[in-house]
Amino acid sequence: MSWLVEPQGPLRGQLRVPGDKSISHRSLILNALASGPARVRGLLEGEDVHSTASALRALGVGIEREGSAVIVRPAPLREPEDVVDCGNSGTTIRLLTGVLARQPFLTVLTGDGSLRKRPMARVVKPLTRMGARFDGRDNGRLPPLVVRGGPLQAQARFDLSISSAQVKSCLLLAGMDGGVWVREPRQSRDHTERMLLAMGAPLTAEEGGLALAPTTSLAPLDVDVPGDVSSAAFWLVAAAIVPGSDITLENVGLNPTRTGVIDALLAMGAQLESETLEVAGTEPTGTLRMRAGGLKGAVIDGNLALRCLDELPVLAVAAAFAEGETVIADAEELRVKESDRIARVVQGLRAMNVEVEERPDGMVIQGGRPHGPATVDGTGDHRIAMAFAVAALASTGGVTLEGAEAISTSYPQFAAHLGELTRG
Ligand code: S3P
Repeated sequence: MSWLVEPQGPLRGQLRVPGDKSISHRSLILNALASGPARVRGLLEGEDVHSTASALRALGVGIEREGSAVIVRPAPLREPEDVVDCGNSGTTIRLLTGVLARQPFLTVLTGDGSLRKRPMARVVKPLTRMGARFDGRDNGRLPPLVVRGGPLQAQARFDLSISSAQVKSCLLLAGMDGGVWVREPRQSRDHTERMLLAMGAPLTAEEGGLALAPTTSLAPLDVDVPGDVSSAAFWLVAAAIVPGSDITLENVGLNPTRTGVIDALLAMGAQLESETLEVAGTEPTGTLRMRAGGLKGAVIDGNLALRCLDELPVLAVAAAFAEGETVIADAEELRVKESDRIARVVQGLRAMNVEVEERPDGMVIQGGRPHGPATVDGTGDHRIAMAFAVAALASTGGVTLEGAEAISTSYPQFAAHLGELTRG
């Protein structure tokens, strides 16, 4: 589907962004392993979360709608009758691989063209060390992935070379029967740990890592899923770059492992106010207000780059409209997301006549006034499509987005919300 996004007037008013994608996946998967039913409110209705729900149903778990909530009814997991399709979702395939590695049956996991290109060795290798058996394309590195589960080695220890919440969560889920210790170089998002603790799991900090003792039972956890700060990021940048904008986003998840985008925008001089109002269950939430103007170049690297990794495409768009140079570094993981996001962002910005240098682990962007008309390919990558929809709003000439249907992976209401904000 191609979508022409034209330059548009100021964004104004208040909005609630849809539920957090990471927390939505986890509230289904962890509650599927609990000792009784749980209620989840505010679940993201995006295709990625539907992939998790249908995978769990194929394993025997009950997931039913009740009004605006979803009830998760755990059941002993059983061998699925068919191949399980994880769609576009890396979180679905990697977290489920951890759960399935310790089940006494065979599962085949696959996904769309984007997911079938994404690296699985990062979970297959450590799980193989624990005793699980796998087959997959390219010697077990790519989906479809065949998981032959069974009893796993107890008390396995993993000192990871990459910081990845998907890998960390996968190993914690695999280690529930026998216990496991996991350490990552830098702390990635910690939603799994927060939820496990709230469900009574024996999880402690040990030697700079996480130690999970054998876990016989998880208490069901009702979850109120906060708004997704990664979705909020698109409106924050849109409001910053479209003159005259003033927006307020309510009930946004403000977990410190996720708020790098706020810190990056503040470093760029954005007129952003953030207020943490309450802790909804296990996660802090609050309000964000953004007014247009003031953006200048900044350096986004190290720990900050990890804390805003998913938001880097739209931060690169902000940089293209800022005054001066922005350097994005230490973000090589962007190359193995739903697409090679470094290459795709560079391509898109160049199509809008922005001067940008591609580097192995990021890019250097010279700010200015990007202009079109341009055509940008968002196929298979929701965040690339939304980032360039935002760029179009403040451009001259607009952007034709190819593959815009990818947006429904995480934000089906994106175009409707854009309409609401531009109508004020
Ligand atoms: C996610 C972890 C991150 C992130 C992804 C969601 C999660 O991936 O990019 O969008 O829910 O655990 P990695 O673990 O591969 O860094």
